[in-house]
Amino acid sequence: MDTMRLVILGATGSIGTQALDVARMHPDKVHIVALAAGRRVDDAVRFAREFGCKHLAFGDEAMRGASALTQLDDDVTVGFGPAAVAALTQLDDVDIVLNALSGEAGMRASYDTLKAGRILALANKESLVVGGDLIMPLATHETLLPVDSEHSAIYQCYLGEYPREARRIWLTCSGGPFRGMTRDALSQVTAAQALAHPTWNMGPKITIDSATLMNKGLEVIEAQHLFDVSTDEIRVVVHPQSCVHSMVEFVDGSVKAHLGVADMRIPIQFALSYPHRWESPAAQPDFTQMAPLEFIDPDIDTFRCLALALEAGHAGGTLPCVMNAANEVAVAAFLDDACRLTDIDATVARVMDRMGGEAVESLEQLEEIDARSRALAREILKRG
Ligand SMILES: NC(=O)c1ccc[n+]([C@@H]2O[C@H](COP(=O)([O-])OP(=O)(O)OC[C@H]3O[C@@H](n4cnc5c(N)ncnc54)[C@H](OP(=O)(O)O)[C@@H]3O)[C@@H](O)[C@H]2O)c1
Repeated sequence: MDTMRLVILGATGSIGTQALDVARMHPDKVHIVALAAGRRVDDAVRFAREFGCKHLAFGDEAMRGASALTQLDDDVTVGFGPAAVAALTQLDDVDIVLNALSGEAGMRASYDTLKAGRILALANKESLVVGGDLIMPLATHETLLPVDSEHSAIYQCYLGEYPREARRIWLTCSGGPFRGMTRDALSQVTAAQALAHPTWNMGPKITIDSATLMNKGLEVIEAQHLFDVSTDEIRVVVHPQSCVHSMVEFVDGSVKAHLGVADMRIPIQFALSYPHRWESPAAQPDFTQMAPLEFIDPDIDTFRCLALALEAGHAGGTLPCVMNAANEVAVAAFLDDACRLTDIDATVARVMDRMGGEAVESLEQLEEIDARSRALAREILKRG
């Protein structure tokens, strides 16, 4: 097999650095052409030197004068701002783009990658939550590979099957660090407590989304788009052991599940190796040492973000965009200790109520609705 030429967007984050681990293990198979990051210039420069990347981009314009940039070879190009990040998807010598940006900021890069005929390895679930109606028509089974562990699991369960013979998707969920808590107790938790996720070591935004179960809600909408199913065909189930990464149930009663250790390098690597499988840097599973497996209904009365996301997914159109924007603003406020965890779903509910939804028409329309929803969420949080 020829060496694949890879761009990593969000190279300094949790998914990005684990993708670099995969590349370290397979230097004969993966060549990293370009990296994008937001603000962590020192790390990005170090990675660019280690992997011999010829192109770098930083989302934050203010990084332009960073001293670490002087360590780069003269033939390395460096760009700044969102357009420079998106431009990496259009480089000539690229096969695959791994989109591991965080939040709606990643949507345009997903769109541009597929539009340019490149393979998209997608970790940035917000891309599909917000822009799925516009992105999916550009994708095929071979050009959009999910990186989210649940969606990678479902994708693999579908391999060799007729999708119309599937009855439902069982989307597993760790339950987050606050499983079993009451609404009152939830309103008292701090950002530091919420950042201690029981299973995965992830970036701050997705960690808070996991604590509120908004992450699972985003994943339901992501699965709707990826696998062309309705919310009614997706059942969320809390599975605290995080051993079953998701399942697909077929009309004859057969169920295919994807199991393994909880290590994101497995789905990241699968998105790069597909249709092959490579040796993995992850630990090997030992089923004799596994805790008994539990499967429990989620508590959507307490974890209202999941109920709101199911509502948005059911409605479709621009409502998921509205919901996502309000959530991003409220999560950032919670991380700044400017609101309570329970203010996140309260804010999202009010913004969804006020904004409503309409049919999706264009990326520009979504960006405009995203901006208005953010402004409204900020106003609601300020007024308390
Ligand atoms: N972490 C996981 O285990 C996991 C699992 C499944 C799905 N996902 C999804 O993968 C995506 C990334 O998650 P993560 O946990 O890796 O997040 P993260 O650790 O916060 O990393 C985000 C990355 O994006 C960069 N970035 C943020 N805003 C940017 C911008 N405007 N322009 C350019 N770069 C920007 C950050 O750069 P700097 O840090 O340099 O500022 C960082 O490299 C999310 O959509 C998440 O839902 C993550």
